[in-house]
Amino acid sequence: MNIAEIVRENGNHRENLLQILHAVQAASGDNSLHQDALAQLAQIMNLPVSEIVGTASFYSMFSLQPRGRHVIRLCESPPCYIKGSENVLLALEKRLGVTLGGTTSDGRFTLETASCLGVCGVAPAMMIDDVVYGNLTGEKVNEIIDRLAPAGAAAG
Ligand code: FES
Repeated sequence: MNIAEIVRENGNHRENLLQILHAVQAASGDNSLHQDALAQLAQIMNLPVSEIVGTASFYSMFSLQPRGRHVIRLCESPPCYIKGSENVLLALEKRLGVTLGGTTSDGRFTLETASCLGVCGVAPAMMIDDVVYGNLTGEKVNEIIDRLAPAGAAAG
């Protein structure tokens, strides 16, 4: 991953830091922001490392820990909770064989929660990478996971 190139492509300005962090995370290979990449970013953008790490730590869409290729973010805000997000979480944990915060042993999925995703009308909802899924049930999440990772298929 060439950090300098990512900064150049996005414009080397403080106000572009979020989109630069997104691009760096996407290029990381494990959906996370590595310490050495953040240090390079600080140097190239002429910003304190503490500011970059602080920004990366503040937003839930960034992770400083390695994650799976697909990040599942189940909404845990009250409207989704009332509509059954707890049962959806149990179904996801069972299907993936991980608990909240965990990554599947094949490195495909990391299971996280998030605050309101802005689609309360279709609660309970989740995002997998950049795609929103709503009106979730245990059965529906199993179908979604099966589509993304058919049993026995090569890692994808
Ligand atoms: S509360 Fe879950 S999407 Fe808004």
